Amino acid sequence: MYSDIIMEHFINPRNIGIIEDADGIGTLGDPDCGDFIKVFIKVTNDCITDIKFQIVGCPAAIACGSAMTEISMGKTIDEAYEIVDDTIIDYLGGLPEEKAHCSNLGAGALHRAIYDYILKSFKKDGHVMVTVVE
Ligand code: FES
Repeated sequence: MYSDIIMEHFINPRNIGIIEDADGIGTLGDPDCGDFIKVFIKVTNDCITDIKFQIVGCPAAIACGSAMTEISMGKTIDEAYEIVDDTIIDYLGGLPEEKAHCSNLGAGALHRAIYDYILKSFKKDGHVMVTVVE
């Protein structure tokens, strides 16, 4: 059912953990299956210099979270925001059709962590608070 690369990320997920002084944190859950992910990013000079995640999820969701962190590491915030479900699915060489939705958690929580980072940056700089609608 799963490819070798998906199984490898599931068995040895990259960047599991938390960042205590994260610059941005994003969480996302899937109410249909109960899976949940939390993503922490550290940003230096507009680049993601560290990323970690915690997850309660299916093998595909764990593999997608792991892949998302590998893809994101070292990217600028703008580049990381371009990471979507299909980016992760392509990186993993495809997902079974019935598991395609599992890539939503990684990409969605990454976007939320980026929003959190941007809003915190605005607050620090004294800018007006903005609301971001997904
Ligand atoms: S079954 Fe819920 S994310 Fe995979």
